[in-house]
Amino acid sequence: MRALLLSGKGAAPRVDAVPTPAPGAGEARVAVRAAALNHRDVFIQHGQYPGIEWPVIPGSDGVGVVDAVGEGVDAGLVGQRVVIDPSLDWGDDPRYQGPDYTILGMPRPGTFAEHVVVPAGNVVPAPTHLDDAHAAALPLAWLTAWRALVVRGRVAKGERVLVTGAGGGVALAAVTLAVAHGAEVWVNSSDPTKIERAKSLGAAGGVLYTEGDWGKTLQKTAGGAFDVVVDGAGGEGFGQIVRVLGMGARVAFYGGTAGRWPGILPQHLFFKQVEIHACTMGSNAEFRAMVDYVGAHGLKPQVDRVFPLTEGAEAFARMEAGEQFGKLVLSVRD
Ligand SMILES: NC(=O)c1ccc[n+]([C@@H]2O[C@H](COP(=O)([O-])OP(=O)(O)OC[C@H]3O[C@@H](n4cnc5c(N)ncnc54)[C@H](OP(=O)(O)O)[C@@H]3O)[C@@H](O)[C@H]2O)c1
Repeated sequence: MRALLLSGKGAAPRVDAVPTPAPGAGEARVAVRAAALNHRDVFIQHGQYPGIEWPVIPGSDGVGVVDAVGEGVDAGLVGQRVVIDPSLDWGDDPRYQGPDYTILGMPRPGTFAEHVVVPAGNVVPAPTHLDDAHAAALPLAWLTAWRALVVRGRVAKGERVLVTGAGGGVALAAVTLAVAHGAEVWVNSSDPTKIERAKSLGAAGGVLYTEGDWGKTLQKTAGGAFDVVVDGAGGEGFGQIVRVLGMGARVAFYGGTAGRWPGILPQHLFFKQVEIHACTMGSNAEFRAMVDYVGAHGLKPQVDRVFPLTEGAEAFARMEAGEQFGKLVLSVRD
């Protein structure tokens, strides 16, 4: 089969022929139709995780058709169009992942290939209202957003929500989910056009995080403090977030793109009884709940651009440059 391979630290991804994997006991093989990039794939390309064994077939997100199953798996799965849950071996505790937890796409070969083998419990019927490119855009980003906003953030109708970094894959999922939950959603971004595009998804408005005291401007524009914040950036901006929190606010953070939190005054947090939730992607049950919600509400992920697998290197470069609005998708059969 063809796969998009990362051959070593810093190397551009390229398509090569590799053996087609066979499903073992308890596993299903998916003939991948479309896959999507996450920042994780670029971090792998740059060797930013410990113990990477090259070459790597990256890719956590994928949609396709089950074409073979291993021993002990219901043969009725064959022929089903599925999305793949990239959370492997979460474990039994819904609060946090167990010691065997990994993410599909390193160390286990990922979805940037014509076939991928995963545990049979990690395939879920794809929402029928989504085409392959949009269904491929769901898994990692939407699961992360779901856990941050819904499970940990406990968003409720009418609440005021801030989602930071409007151009990000997780952020856009959080915006769409928060709007669907009946929240009043605000964003920040480095780019005014991304704020406008977030508004077209139902956000009330936003501010530029590149402008110093953006928290103050945001609170004034929004007309009050925030009940829920979903943040993937951290860094200096976290100090601004702390200042816009309302009483009993929940902050769910899932990334640290902008680095360390600056000095934060504890008084700004404890008096307001603020909850700060550290989040990763989520459990298999949360993945299924997210996909069910997307199906029931007819939600659609943002796709920035679809590249053929052979142009995977361009997709990686676009993600690294942060030019995208929404997910970068690879059409695996092209
Ligand atoms: N914990 C987990 O399980 C998990 C899961 C997914 C992602 N992550 C992490 O979350 C981060 C984002 O991932 P992603 O896949 O959504 O990446 P992405 O699609 O590349 O989005 C990154 C976005 O971050 C925003 N950003 C950059 N600097 C910022 C700042 N100083 N303040 C606010 N926003 C800023 C930018 O928004 P604008 O373009 O609007 O300026 C950019 O579009 C990464 O660090 C990733 O590793 C963690």
